[in-house]
Amino acid sequence: MATLTWHGHSCFTLVTDEGQRVMIDPWIDENPAANIKTSDIDALDYILVSHGHSDHFDDCVKLAKKTGATVISTYELVSFCQSQGVEKGHGMNIGGAYMFDFGRVKLTPALHTGSISGDDGSHTTDPAGFLISLNGGQRVYHAGDTALIMDLQLLNGLVDIAILPIGDNFTMGPEDAARAVEMIEPSVVIPMHYNTFPVIEQNPEGFRTLVGDRAKVVIMKPGDTFEIGVNS
Ligand code: NI
Ligand code: MN
Repeated sequence: MATLTWHGHSCFTLVTDEGQRVMIDPWIDENPAANIKTSDIDALDYILVSHGHSDHFDDCVKLAKKTGATVISTYELVSFCQSQGVEKGHGMNIGGAYMFDFGRVKLTPALHTGSISGDDGSHTTDPAGFLISLNGGQRVYHAGDTALIMDLQLLNGLVDIAILPIGDNFTMGPEDAARAVEMIEPSVVIPMHYNTFPVIEQNPEGFRTLVGDRAKVVIMKPGDTFEIGVNS
């Protein structure tokens, strides 16, 4: 059974039916909400990075070097990683999809700002989200840091599990995330990017109320693991 484990903020580890380990938005050692340290992580096959802000990217280069994982992100962000000594990268761009051995990944539009933490400004980046279609049939959307945008309607019918930011201030807040659920119509929605620091404090139960019966809202704690069934 494929699983999804939350490490706080936007960082998740997806383990596929076949056992491939895919980390999304690795921010761990400086993440006040994280349940682990990078020293606890020995094996990763892929690292997906939505954008270069430090709260999504800080531990990417370290973990890619340690584990030999392939970094999947926008072309510019992957180029930056390779300039920092990361050996395996797969650059993509918004709207493009590629079939990896664990499943298909499509970079989706995200409305947000972009920079790369640690860069001198020579690798600009636009932020993205990920539509991940695992070989086992599970379809997971990780929204990155996006605002509510009409483009989310294009995901309708394509997503079983939507992972959406609800923290407000830097991303969608609970009201806009609930509207995103209306647009996407996933079976399950998992809130993220909240309660990491004071400016993004939210009560996820309020988000659950706003979503109502449109989707099952799964509220996780850092360290919790959710089992991903097909159409779950
Ligand atoms: Ni950001
Ligand atoms: Mn962020």
